[in-house]
Amino acid sequence: MANVTFSSPVMPRDITVYAVAGHRGTLLALAKAHHIPIPFDCQDGECGSCLVEITHFSPRERYGIALTEKEKELLRQFGKITKAEIMDAEVNDMPPHHRLACQCFVRNEDIMVSFEGDMTLPVKGPTLSIAAAIYKGGVQIKTLDDFLSYAVQIEEDAAIHFERLSKTMAACGNSDVAALFSELGHYSRLHLAEAKAKCSRKDITVSLPAKSAWPDNETPEKTALWAADPEMARLGALKAALQGERRGFEFYYAIAGTTKDPEIRAIAKEFVHEETEHVDKLKQWIEQEEAAVRAKGGTAAS
Ligand code: FES
Repeated sequence: MANVTFSSPVMPRDITVYAVAGHRGTLLALAKAHHIPIPFDCQDGECGSCLVEITHFSPRERYGIALTEKEKELLRQFGKITKAEIMDAEVNDMPPHHRLACQCFVRNEDIMVSFEGDMTLPVKGPTLSIAAAIYKGGVQIKTLDDFLSYAVQIEEDAAIHFERLSKTMAACGNSDVAALFSELGHYSRLHLAEAKAKCSRKDITVSLPAKSAWPDNETPEKTALWAADPEMARLGALKAALQGERRGFEFYYAIAGTTKDPEIRAIAKEFVHEETEHVDKLKQWIEQEEAAVRAKGGTAAS
């Protein structure tokens, strides 16, 4: 059993995972299985994007390994291997401190794996929720057309759903929450227009994915919003909307972190930043609403 601790400025805290005895996978495979955002591309020791630094917690448990020529050469090009380390690797089969995660196999040794990560993505813990993994797992994004079609459907579903909730609330006489859902629907329409504008700039014909393409037949931003409760207060409505936006954020985040297509990655990152703004805005509204509830002498439980 090996304890492998991952550490990076793009993760809010270090994460330790246990690799079972006999695990023959690479460090990169282990990281991917646990949603640790080590950047990667070729997965074949050619590009160097999965560069990591390895620290052994117990230097006496350091195992020898023959470095491949291509890994040695890449590390040399990046200036991440010293002459002494090359000598140690060639004479004693001792690995250097820096490795390529896709070329480094997990063995029975406790190690710290540090990596820089993609600093253009907002900091987020991989354990925030499992939604990203669930949605990414159910959706095969192969082309830019696919990706933007999914994005359009996410935003369209969110807009339609908010508008329906608004009508239901209005019919129940809850005009305050009806107005709020109507406002959220308006924002979703704006996001939808942005997604469609991206499609026309890229000359993409949107073909909405079938409902069955999504887990539970629901797009990420919609799933968290329950059917209208006539007694729902503004705070509850805002919290439901926050869950939906968070799932949308996680969906785009998962795509940005796993796609191999640089164009999809770049646009997914734009959506990640936009969804981050929506999440922050909703959090701000929730704080204001909680303060208003407290000022009226109520509890802020929703
Ligand atoms: S992913 Fe390209 S070298 Fe590891």
